[in-house]
Amino acid sequence: MKFVRFIMKNAALASVPKHIEHFSKFSPSPLSMKQFLDFGSINACEKTSFVFLRQELPVRLSNIMKEINLLPNKLLTTASVQTVQSWYIQSLMEILEFLDKNPDDFKVLGEFVDALVTIRNRHNDVVPTMAQGIIEYKEAFPQDLVTNQNIQYFLDRFYMSRISIRMLINQHTLIFDGTLNPLHPNIIGSIEPQCEVGDVVQDAFHSAKMLCDQYYLRSPDLILQEMCSKKKKNLPMSIVYVPSHLYHMLFELFKNAMRATIETHDNSNTLPPIHVRLSLGDEDMSIKVSDKGRGVPFRRIENFFSYMFSTAPTPQMGEHTRPPLAGFGYGLPISRLYAQYFQGDLKLYSMEGHGTDAVIYLKALSTDSIERLPVYNRTALKNYKVSQEVDDWCIPSKEPLDLSVYKVPK
Ligand SMILES: Nc1ncnc2c1ncn2[C@@H]1O[C@H](COP(=O)(O)OP(=O)(O)O)[C@@H](O)[C@H]1O
Ligand SMILES: [Mg+2]
Repeated sequence: MKFVRFIMKNAALASVPKHIEHFSKFSPSPLSMKQFLDFGSINACEKTSFVFLRQELPVRLSNIMKEINLLPNKLLTTASVQTVQSWYIQSLMEILEFLDKNPDDFKVLGEFVDALVTIRNRHNDVVPTMAQGIIEYKEAFPQDLVTNQNIQYFLDRFYMSRISIRMLINQHTLIFDGTLNPLHPNIIGSIEPQCEVGDVVQDAFHSAKMLCDQYYLRSPDLILQEMCSKKKKNLPMSIVYVPSHLYHMLFELFKNAMRATIETHDNSNTLPPIHVRLSLGDEDMSIKVSDKGRGVPFRRIENFFSYMFSTAPTPQMGEHTRPPLAGFGYGLPISRLYAQYFQGDLKLYSMEGHGTDAVIYLKALSTDSIERLPVYNRTALKNYKVSQEVDDWCIPSKEPLDLSVYKVPK
């Protein structure tokens, strides 16, 4: 029996490339916030969601698996990236088993929820594992600009794909596991139809403040201002959003703002507060987090969004260590992906010598909040094939210019 199962498993494994080829030919279908809500509203239909997911999840997985294969060979073959790849293959196989199952069978629907939970747990550590692969690769091989750009391009797409896959899985499992969330009865899966932005700001600030107090024994205060002229009297500012995503972004921004504030006010008894301004317009919900942590040079801003960069020492990971305040360098790039996931963005504006403003832009209308998803196609393929070309802008010389060579002979 064991032998038969082994043969069957190997046969399934052998057919994986064929399935990836097939499903990667489809484009992922981005969902709008409204569609997410409809999937989870009163007339939520588990069967419809099941039929959609057993096609859409293999499509999203296969699209990104094609891109993993395009990574530089020396990165692809690191133990960490191999592990991540094996998780993706395993999860794809597990979903494919539902392709020929009957959607009217309650048992099948129950098994599907269980399978999704297993898959979600399997992929919990994808980010640190992938990061480990990048570190190994970075240490072993000298980096060139093009490889760095390729890795940045890949990771932005890979992590965005992961955010979207987890969103789909979370919605289905939270809505159809048969229990209500007693703390948030209005929440639909992980979406809050009236997400009060000010509340999430307070929560995230509070958590960052506790962490900051542990490290530095002090922390700056918060000033929160709701600026919007459109704001209805006495009604808090709210949008349809995933509070956990917003919390993640704000928590990262607050940790950075606090670290900058404290490290630049070593000799001062008072700390300048962190100022948050919220504004809700017709199109945008904007959240500006301002600190007086002396800012950073403009030249370095783009580096801060790089997965290969952090100015803090890499923290040690272990079961008994406290969560670090900074150090992996993934705070900003991943937060920007969360903002972009529903068509928003995250920008950093700094005034060196004074302080930094970080602005999160979200869509004010749920009809504009539509998933932003990578698709594997010819354009993507071309982006991995760029080679080191000669720059078409002059490189300024550091040597003093010898003008005598230009002297016109008499
Ligand atoms: N508000 C800020 N003021 C000054 N520097 C900042 C600020 N926010 C981010 N940075 C710089 O950007 C870098 C990257 O930030 P982040 O992605 O959160 O990674 P980490 O905090 O783990 O280093 C930080 O190490 C810091 O040098
Ligand atoms: Mg940080």
